[in-house]
Amino acid sequence: MKNQHTFMGIALSACVFGMCAASTFAADETLRSLAEKNNIYIGAILNSQWFSGQLPSNYEQIHKTQFNIVVAENEMKFDATEPSEGRFNYGNGDKMVKYAQQNGMRVRGHALAWHSQVPGWVNNYRNDKQKLLKVLKNHIQNVVGHWKGKVAEWDVVNEAISNNEPMWRSQSVWYQGIGPDFIDSAFVWTHAVDPDAELCYNDYNLEQGISPKAKAGFLLEQVKRWVKNGIPIHCVGSQTHVEDTTTDKHFIGSPDSLRALAKELAKLNIKLKITELDIGFKSGINVSKKDLERQGKTFREYLDIVLEEPNADTYLIWGVSDKWSWLGGLNRQKGLIYDDNLKPKPAFDSILVRLQTFEPPQDTTKQDTTKTDTTKTDTTKQDTSIAIPQFSSMKALSMRISGRTLFISGANTAKVEVFDMQGRPVFNGKCETGALELKGISEGVYMVRIREHSTSLVQKIAIK
Ligand code: XIL
Repeated sequence: MKNQHTFMGIALSACVFGMCAASTFAADETLRSLAEKNNIYIGAILNSQWFSGQLPSNYEQIHKTQFNIVVAENEMKFDATEPSEGRFNYGNGDKMVKYAQQNGMRVRGHALAWHSQVPGWVNNYRNDKQKLLKVLKNHIQNVVGHWKGKVAEWDVVNEAISNNEPMWRSQSVWYQGIGPDFIDSAFVWTHAVDPDAELCYNDYNLEQGISPKAKAGFLLEQVKRWVKNGIPIHCVGSQTHVEDTTTDKHFIGSPDSLRALAKELAKLNIKLKITELDIGFKSGINVSKKDLERQGKTFREYLDIVLEEPNADTYLIWGVSDKWSWLGGLNRQKGLIYDDNLKPKPAFDSILVRLQTFEPPQDTTKQDTTKTDTTKTDTTKQDTSIAIPQFSSMKALSMRISGRTLFISGANTAKVEVFDMQGRPVFNGKCETGALELKGISEGVYMVRIREHSTSLVQKIAIK
């Protein structure tokens, strides 16, 4: 077993009723192997300290074992790749590309046109539109050309929208010098150099709703225009740097809002990628076990979008361990899935088990980005038994809970697994009579998976 918890042991020892069945969890399952099974990319940045060899060896071991997509924290940004005019520096980026190739990982390029981390020499041309156009075009041609065929996707434009109002960000050398056309041009130039690369617009606060006043609402209007005008854009990256709901009093972002954006983008045949996820707590507060479990639940809810929405394919976390996270600068802490000692946190468990238990609807594939699923229903309104229809692979199987008795129909012998909302197995048994007493499980909400042969159903239940 590599760098993860021994779920096998937990699952088997948690068998409290019925005939125990062998756990379905293979001992060597990782986030990566499960993501691959689910046809999605799961990743984390390589922190800047990795490039200068400052990290313990288990950091890299974890990184390549658990993830199948990688992005550089700072090393492909403008100031890193063209620190002085016309002199390009690809050393660190090449190091990461080699690492990715050796370990079979996809590479994201981040970022070409951004207002931040732009070297001083570019700012000298702030008032010279023609020169700035040349600077941006030359940068794109060189950088994208250098990694052509090696970087699978680029954040062509990063954070071009203002935070407060639905308008472009004015404090940007590109916007001030060129105007909003710099965006259209950047996409066209990038596509011309590497027609096979996926090209994204990337930004933060996109999980805050799609009303015309919200950032994502403004973005949607632009995406519609780009698509209509034939601008080569293929994806929207949602950074998703969010704060735990209980520590941010003004919390307005939610997985549901981001899902709504994914659905709107699907109509335009544009993908949604989660590109920089972290879920921090306010700096200075004590973070309890319960807080970490709630954080895990939020990580899972964002993962659900990537698993369930046909046009979402990437779940990328902005860091591996809390020890080397940029979040301190945002007055946040503990926003990642490994702790300071590189030990997996409850959020890791949530993600792992969610990947283990997810069963895609049989008629939906990740490749088909145009397909919209109209079968989903509102799962929040039912009381004790909350069906999640998208997990059902066959209609015949059904379950309901009454008190502590789970009633199963449509199966002769069903294998029953119960997970807590952290995704940890708490029960594992067989039901041969159509009814099974879920003894030994405390009150709360759980996820139940029942299986017979290749038919299975996953459903949320509440034990009262
Ligand atoms: C951050 C890095 O993590 C820091 O090391 C650096 O000092 C500043 O940039 N949005 C982005 C990322 O697109 O590039 C930022 O990365 C985090 C916010």
